[in-house]
Amino acid sequence: MCLRTGASGEDATGLYTDPDLLAEVYVGPYVELEPALATVLDDGTGAAEGYVLGALDTREFEARCESEWWPALRERYPLGSATAGSADDRVVQLIHDPPVAPDHVVRDHPSHLHVDLLPRWQGGGWGRRLLERLFDQLAAAGSTGVHLGVGSGNERAIGFYRRLGFTTLEDGIPGVLFLGRRLG
Ligand SMILES: CC(C)(COP(=O)(O)OP(=O)(O)OC[C@H]1O[C@@H](n2cnc3c(N)ncnc32)[C@H](O)[C@@H]1OP(=O)(O)O)[C@@H](O)C(=O)NCCC(=O)NCCS
Repeated sequence: MCLRTGASGEDATGLYTDPDLLAEVYVGPYVELEPALATVLDDGTGAAEGYVLGALDTREFEARCESEWWPALRERYPLGSATAGSADDRVVQLIHDPPVAPDHVVRDHPSHLHVDLLPRWQGGGWGRRLLERLFDQLAAAGSTGVHLGVGSGNERAIGFYRRLGFTTLEDGIPGVLFLGRRLG
């Protein structure tokens, strides 16, 4: 799901040589470290069709990734292990130098999320349902707000997030837009 929506919401399968790489960064640590905030949409037969993933406290999550998630991946994917300049190479660099959310984004919006649905489940209200469930979980756990980073070219997702009440927190970083929404 992560790979099939990984190119600004479109299929990224052809971009990556290693099909696991993207999910190792954008899915794995959430499922491993914050399983209670990971919700899967299934089609009734048990096949996963979408997910929302959350981290309650972004700074704590970043610190736990540094001690519990990145070290093994850094051994598995050493710097220079992918072809220079390739999409794989860019993700390997992220594994070694993970992006950190800006302080002013995290201050009032300490939680963050990722959401992806396979194409046939898009546009039917499932994205809203998954996010509203996560908002309730985060608010119940005491979070004051949630943020996310979205590719600046992912117009569809940006429209979706704005419809759900997200506003711009940071638009000065090339290629990524930080949006946030208060909770509670
Ligand atoms: C982005 C995504 C999660 C949205 O989920 P979805 O199920 O398609 O969206 P929904 O059908 O739940 O839409 C919820 C609301 O947003 C509105 N909406 C959706 N896209 C919109 C857009 N581009 N502009 C304005 N409103 C939009 C819907 O009309 C709906 O409004 P309503 O509930 O008030 O009637 C989903 O399309 C997806 O997984 N896309 C591919 C992966 C991706 O880009 N993920 C985000 C990466 S940061």
